[in-house]
Amino acid sequence: MKIDIITCLPELLTSYIDGSMLKIGREKGLVDIRVHYLRDWTTDKHRSTDDSPYGGGPGMIMKIEPLVKAIRDLKTEDSVVIYPAPSGVVYDQKTARELSELKHLIIICGHYKGIDGRIENFVDRMISVGDYILTGGELAAMILADSVCRLIPGVISDIGSADTDSFENGLLDCDYFTKPPVFEGLAVPEVLINGNHKAINEWRKNDSLEKTKTSRPDLYEKYKKIK
Ligand SMILES: C[S@@+](CC[C@H](N)C(=O)[O-])C[C@H]1O[C@@H](n2cnc3c(N)ncnc32)[C@H](O)[C@@H]1O
Repeated sequence: MKIDIITCLPELLTSYIDGSMLKIGREKGLVDIRVHYLRDWTTDKHRSTDDSPYGGGPGMIMKIEPLVKAIRDLKTEDSVVIYPAPSGVVYDQKTARELSELKHLIIICGHYKGIDGRIENFVDRMISVGDYILTGGELAAMILADSVCRLIPGVISDIGSADTDSFENGLLDCDYFTKPPVFEGLAVPEVLINGNHKAINEWRKNDSLEKTKTSRPDLYEKYKKIK
């Protein structure tokens, strides 16, 4: 998979990429992730990427010309252009799975009050990472890139690990424990220590159900309906 990210703050992205699963995906040749500096597509003397809003009011607006130029330069027939924005469809694990099967993602990062509204004509999808406001699209781009890359077969070396994570089967994942068996009087459930894999799987399934019921009753109700 190829991921191109267009931003006016490339340094925010490179440090995360170089210290995360994305670097492993890149080293294994499974993910080709590139960060592009938006100013490289500006043409004016000041290399401006933003301007004041028509109609007045606080905040600056990201200009459409350099972004559209960048998209056009990077786009191929396999590309899906994503604009992470609060007005997009709220992101979830199902969408992450869907995106992980694509060949090429182009992600554009907004800033200030956002991107000129005409950008909607040049993107394929708008995705929100939740009902809160980030300062810029870089964190959202990293949420998308990270959650998608870890689903590409071979990126995570523990085979099947991602498949048992929360949301994959509609439930939250169970609790896990490691040594010591007792910490400050808190013991690991006995069943996890005795090596009976049938009993361990049963405990995990029950813990996952109980945890979902308590922490995310909305998910639990949905799960019960389809089971
Ligand atoms: C300060 S925000 C702009 C907020 C915009 N004026 C609004 O209220 O909807 C700047 C940029 O951060 C990104 N952003 C902020 N919150 C986001 C969210 N919940 N999901 C995805 N992207 C977000 C978008 O790229 C956005 O253009």
